[in-house]
Amino acid sequence: MNLQIKSNPETLAVLQQHRSIRRFLDKTIPEADIQRIVSSTLAVSSSSHGQAFSIINVTNPENRKKLAEYAGNQQQVIDCSHFFVFCADLHRLEGLASRAGADLTASLDSTEMFIIATVDAALAAQNTAVAAEALGLGIVYIGGLRNNPQQVSELLKLPERVYPVFGMCIGYPDPEHIPGLKPRLPREAVFFQDEYAPFEQSVPYLLEYDQTMKQYYLDRTDGRRAETWSDTMIDSKKVPRRMFMKSFLAERGFPLT
Ligand SMILES: Cc1cc2nc3c(=O)[nH]c(=O)nc-3n(C[C@H](O)[C@H](O)[C@H](O)COP(=O)(O)O)c2cc1C
Repeated sequence: MNLQIKSNPETLAVLQQHRSIRRFLDKTIPEADIQRIVSSTLAVSSSSHGQAFSIINVTNPENRKKLAEYAGNQQQVIDCSHFFVFCADLHRLEGLASRAGADLTASLDSTEMFIIATVDAALAAQNTAVAAEALGLGIVYIGGLRNNPQQVSELLKLPERVYPVFGMCIGYPDPEHIPGLKPRLPREAVFFQDEYAPFEQSVPYLLEYDQTMKQYYLDRTDGRRAETWSDTMIDSKKVPRRMFMKSFLAERGFPLT
């Protein structure tokens, strides 16, 4: 059979129009569209076809409220039509192994398997995001769930060897609150030819980007925010965050050996 892959340049426009949406209309996405999105999620590539992720569609309003709080009072978790939690999942494989009488403990404990499951979950999320945006919906990732990963895991009854990587709000963007596109790093600072370019070569591009972002924030905040991108990044990492993550992961069945 001679299969062909159809060119679909409209997808590029979808990708390049991405912006995070944090204000949603009070309108529910029809189930048929959710199913189209989930079909696109499941079409994602995964390491060795392992599909080491799970998604929890959180519909219970009380649980939404709790998750919004756990994420640092992020109102959009309550307001969006659908809230998905993307989990790295080695529980499914462990269950199958146990049924087959196989012991995969050494593998499942490994840092490599943690990376595999985390990457699989992230790729599934990004497919979900692009599918939703292709339908004219808006999304925002909610990494804030990792402020309280233990509470999130208990609320969602996540078994051992499953952890919540992040959530995602999906819904109809409020047209009065659609932000402009956020400028990205110049490609010269990110996209190298054949070998990693010396940092010094990137510096002029990074400084230029600092000015672009400074202007972007000035415009967006009526002059209240005037830092450069580098300053924001450096300041935000001066104090290490979520230092409980290593022990949390170990407790959930990701000892990272
Ligand atoms: C893994 C991840 C976690 C994020 N967590 C949050 C979050 O908790 N709350 C939020 O409002 N935005 C969150 N974001 C959105 C980023 O702030 C946003 O993607 C970035 O500022 C670029 O802006 P843009 O998506 O509008 O282009 C997250 C994004 C990613 C990829």
